[in-house]
Amino acid sequence: MAVPPRILVAGAINTDLVATVARAPGAGETVTGHGFAVFGGGKSANQAVATARSSVRTVLLGAVGDDDFGRQRLADLAAAGIGLDHVLQRPATVSGVALITVQDDGENRIAYVPGPTATVTPAEAEAAFDAVRPHLLLATLELPIETLVALFARARAISVRTVLNASPDPELARQLLPTTDVLIANETEAKALMGDIEAPAGAPAATLGCEAVVLTLGKAGASVITRYGATLQPSFDVEVVDTTGAGDAFAGAFAAWMAEGAHISVALRAGVAAGALATTRPGAQPSIPTRAEIETLLQSADAPIASTLPAQ
Ligand code: RIB
Repeated sequence: MAVPPRILVAGAINTDLVATVARAPGAGETVTGHGFAVFGGGKSANQAVATARSSVRTVLLGAVGDDDFGRQRLADLAAAGIGLDHVLQRPATVSGVALITVQDDGENRIAYVPGPTATVTPAEAEAAFDAVRPHLLLATLELPIETLVALFARARAISVRTVLNASPDPELARQLLPTTDVLIANETEAKALMGDIEAPAGAPAATLGCEAVVLTLGKAGASVITRYGATLQPSFDVEVVDTTGAGDAFAGAFAAWMAEGAHISVALRAGVAAGALATTRPGAQPSIPTRAEIETLLQSADAPIASTLPAQ
């Protein structure tokens, strides 16, 4: 019997402090909000929740402090069924926190402080990789770049597929491109890396040396671009409440389907459905859909179909 796939997700675990406001404040301005909530967050923790809710065995690599936020996040992630043997607990540090404003139209603004996430060393990452032996590595740009370089080199050395979400600082992705198979970027991140690309077909993945570039396009869906051409998957028609974590829901579901051996265009479709569902609920981790929810949306009568686009 085939071994079920295992994903190693590497990056930040945060606590999100979220204020809901009619309109986010500008510089020097104070606005009065009308709601406040605390959620589990951090791009990679969110992505790990997404791969686990997509029923793929998931191990998270990251770090928290020895504080209430850190303990709460570990409890939430354990309850989601995520392996936490490689989440390091750093004494006397404050766990990662994100300050988020969500406008009534669902748009968000985020400032985050990584805390112990920024302390994970290359040796710790390599040890985690060797212990987990994942079928797929999914990472953001939240761990220190030298740690990510070591981790991706380890994966490439034994041909483990690597998926890199070029967020939050896309410039750092350049150092990982030689060992990245699939790069996921939103339009802003893609422009930072490839200049003025024309979404959705964008620049060929060959420009970056990856097997594929996935462009997430918000309400327009997402496209996947390879050296042979592009596929655009339009988004699903949903009522948007909060876009926080939608990109993470996309990345996690996409990676889960890829780890199971799905064709990249099928993984793209699952990712777009997951991202759309995540916008219909508040918060990052609470909004991430289960596999059953994704499959129900994919099978809905009015589900949009993908189209192929000529290579540019
Ligand atoms: O992608 C959303 C995440 O980004 C939030 O959960 C927040 O923690 C920030 O890092």
